[in-house]
Amino acid sequence: MHDLDHLFKSNKRWAGELTRTDSAFFERTAQAQHPSYLWIGCSDSRVPADDIVGAQPGELFVHRNIANIVVHTDLSCLSVLQYAVDVLKVPHIIICGHYRCGGITAAMSAQPHGLIDNWLLEIKDLYRDHRDELDAIEDQAARIDRMCELNVVRQVENVAHTVIAQDAWRRGQALAVHGWIYNLQDGLLRDLELTITGSDAIDAVYRMHAGRGA
Ligand code: CO
Repeated sequence: MHDLDHLFKSNKRWAGELTRTDSAFFERTAQAQHPSYLWIGCSDSRVPADDIVGAQPGELFVHRNIANIVVHTDLSCLSVLQYAVDVLKVPHIIICGHYRCGGITAAMSAQPHGLIDNWLLEIKDLYRDHRDELDAIEDQAARIDRMCELNVVRQVENVAHTVIAQDAWRRGQALAVHGWIYNLQDGLLRDLELTITGSDAIDAVYRMHAGRGA
C-alpha cells in the first residue's frame, strides 16, 4: 500500500500542526463533541464541508451522500439527524448543495448509471415537479444549476417535515434549517435564504400535532 503513504504523512503533518498551535487540542476534543451545526452535503470530493467553512474538528456534525438528499426512509440520514437534534442539540442544520452537481446531472439525463439510478429517482421526481420552469431554461448548465438550487429547497423542506424537527420545535428547542449552495468555480457559499425555524413555516399537510397519535 505504498501508494497511500503520502496520506499518512500528510495526516502526521496535519496533527502536528494542530498540536503545535494548541498542545491540548486532541486531548480536549477527545472528551466530547459539542458541534453547533449539522451539515448535510454532497459526497463530491470538491465540496469538503469542514474546509469550505474553515471548521476545526468538533465544529461540524456531517452527513454526506450523492446530491445531498434527505430521504424519509434513509435510516443512515435519519439517524444522523436524530442524534444531532435530540442528543447533540445542534441549533443549526445546513443543507448545502453545489452547482454542477454530478448526481443532479446524472438524474437529468436518460443514460443508465446502475444502482445509483434508484437513489437518483428522488431527483427525477423533483425535476418532474418543476419541469415547466426547468425546460424553459435553454442553457443546459444553467438548467442543471437551477435544479441544484431547487434540490436544496426540497431537502430543507424534507428536514423540516421530519418528526425529529417537528418534535424539537414542539418542545421549544431552537432549531433552524438552512439552505445553502456552493459554487465550485469560486469556492464561495451562498445562503438561499430559505431558513425554516418552526412548524408554522411548513405546509399544513405535513404538520403533526401533539396527541395525534402514532
Ligand atoms: Co454533487
